[in-house]
Amino acid sequence: MDKERIKIILITEKHFESEISVSGWVRTKRQSKNVSFISLNDGSTINSLQVVLDMNDFDLKLVDEINSGTSLSVSGKLVKSEGKNQAFELIASNLKILGKSDPDEYPIQPKRHSFEFLREVAHLRPRTNTFSSIFRIRHSIIFAIHKFFNDKGFYNIHTPIITSSDAEGAGEMFKVTSLDLDKKNIDFKDDFFSKPVNLTVSGQLNAELGALALSEVYTFGPTFRAENSNTSKHLSEFWMIEPEMAFYDIEDNMNLAEEMLKYVIKYVLNNCNDDLVFLENLEKNEEKSLPQIQRNEFPLIERLSKITDSNFNRVSYTDAFNILRNSKPNKKGKFKFKVDEWGIDFQSEHERYLVEKHFKNPVIVIDYPKDIKAFYMRSNEDNKTVAAMDVLFPIVGEIIGGSQREERLDMLTKRMDEMNVSKKDLSWYLDTRKFGTVVHSGFGLGLERLVQFITGMKNIRDVIPFPRTPGNCNY
Ligand code: 4AD
Ligand code: MG
Repeated sequence: MDKERIKIILITEKHFESEISVSGWVRTKRQSKNVSFISLNDGSTINSLQVVLDMNDFDLKLVDEINSGTSLSVSGKLVKSEGKNQAFELIASNLKILGKSDPDEYPIQPKRHSFEFLREVAHLRPRTNTFSSIFRIRHSIIFAIHKFFNDKGFYNIHTPIITSSDAEGAGEMFKVTSLDLDKKNIDFKDDFFSKPVNLTVSGQLNAELGALALSEVYTFGPTFRAENSNTSKHLSEFWMIEPEMAFYDIEDNMNLAEEMLKYVIKYVLNNCNDDLVFLENLEKNEEKSLPQIQRNEFPLIERLSKITDSNFNRVSYTDAFNILRNSKPNKKGKFKFKVDEWGIDFQSEHERYLVEKHFKNPVIVIDYPKDIKAFYMRSNEDNKTVAAMDVLFPIVGEIIGGSQREERLDMLTKRMDEMNVSKKDLSWYLDTRKFGTVVHSGFGLGLERLVQFITGMKNIRDVIPFPRTPGNCNY
C-alpha cells in the first residue's frame, strides 16, 4: 500500500476517479451509524483530506479506535466532494491504523487551544493547523532568502558557532566549556580550547573575512544571546542572516536590505497562499475579543502586500529623535522611556511610533550616535555619528541591524582603543584592513522577527519550533 502513497498536497484533479493511498494523522472524526468522516492531515498542506468510511465495509471496532491524533494509512477512490469545505474526498476501501492515540491523554483536542497552552506541548503543536502553517511558511522564507542571495551571486559561508570573539561587544554570551565547574580555582587555560570561548552572538566578523575575499557572501546560522529579556521579541537562540559585501557603501546596503525584504515577502505571497489565508482568518477571530485599538488596521495579506508596494522611509537618527521629541504618542502625551537627550537608544515603543504612527510604513534609521553602536561601524565626518542602519517594521520593531564597516585601519584601531576592544585578540580582523582594505557593508536580519511579521504571530516563541528563552529549554 505504501508504494503508491501520495502526499496530500500533491493530490489534484488528475487523480479523480483513480485509486490513491495516503498516510497521516487524524484531525477529527465524525461517526454515525452508516458513514464516518475522517479529516486526515499529513502536514504537507493546510488542507486536510476528507476520508469517507462506509460503515457497511468497515468493522465498527476498528473505526471506534480512530481518534484525534491516530496515525492512519488509507487507500481508496478519490471523488468529487459534495461538501462545500473541500473539492474532493477519498472513499476508503482499505484502512490501517498505524499508531493509536488515547483521546483521554492526547493534549491536542479538536478545539481552539491558547498559544500559551500549546507552548507547553511544543513537541505536539506542529500537529495543529496553526503551527503547521507557521512552520511551512518559515521554510518558504528560508528558501526564498537562499534563492535571493544565490540568484544575485552571493556565496553562503558558514561561520563558527563556538568562538572566542564577542562580535557585538555586548558581553551577554553563553560560555562553552568542558571543565568540571564544581571544582574550585577554574583556569580556562586548562579548558578544551586553552582559553575561554562562547557561543556566537553574530557571525559578522568572520563574514567580513569572507566578503574581503569573495566580494559578496552571507551567513545563515544560529545565534545565541544570554540577555535576560523576557519579551515577545527576544529569544536566547535565534537564527540570523548576515550578508556582507565588499565595495558596498551604506546606501547600497540599505538598497539591498529593502530589496531582500520585499523579495521574501513577495515570495511568500506567491507561494503560501493557503497558509496565509488560514492565518489571516485565525487573526480575525482572535482579534474579535480585543479592544479596537489593539487590532491590526489591515488584514494580514493586505499588510504584506502594502510592504512590497511601498518605498521604505529613510531618516537620520537626529531627525527621528526630533520627531519623537515633538510627538504626542498617547493621551498622556508621553513615552514610558523619555526622549529628552540626543544620544539615547530608541526603545521598542519609539521604533513602533515611528513606523506605525508617524511614517505608517517601514523606516530605515541611519547615522546613529557612535556611543550606542559597536566598534566596527564607520565614523561619519561629524565624528559624533556612525554609518549604522536599523530597519524598523510595523509590529516587530527592529528587524535588521547593519552598518558600513570602518575600513580605515587608523580610525578602526582608535575606536577599539576608546572602547576597550582588544587589538591583540582581533589581530586577524585588523589584517583585512592592513592588506587590501576596501569599503564594505553588511547587515543582520533576525529570521524569527521576519517570520513573526509575515505570519502575524504576536509572540516570537510561536514562530520557532523549539523556543529557548530565560528559564525555558525543553525538548
Ligand atoms: O542588531 P543586531 O544585534 O546586529 C548584529 O548582530 C550585527 N552583527 C549584524 C550585522 O551587521 N551583520 O542583530 C541583528 C538582528 C536584529 O535586528 C534582530 O532582528 C535580530 O537580529 N535579533 C534578535 N532576534 C531574536 N531574539 C533576539 N534576542 C535578537 N537579538 C537580535
Ligand atoms: Mg540592533
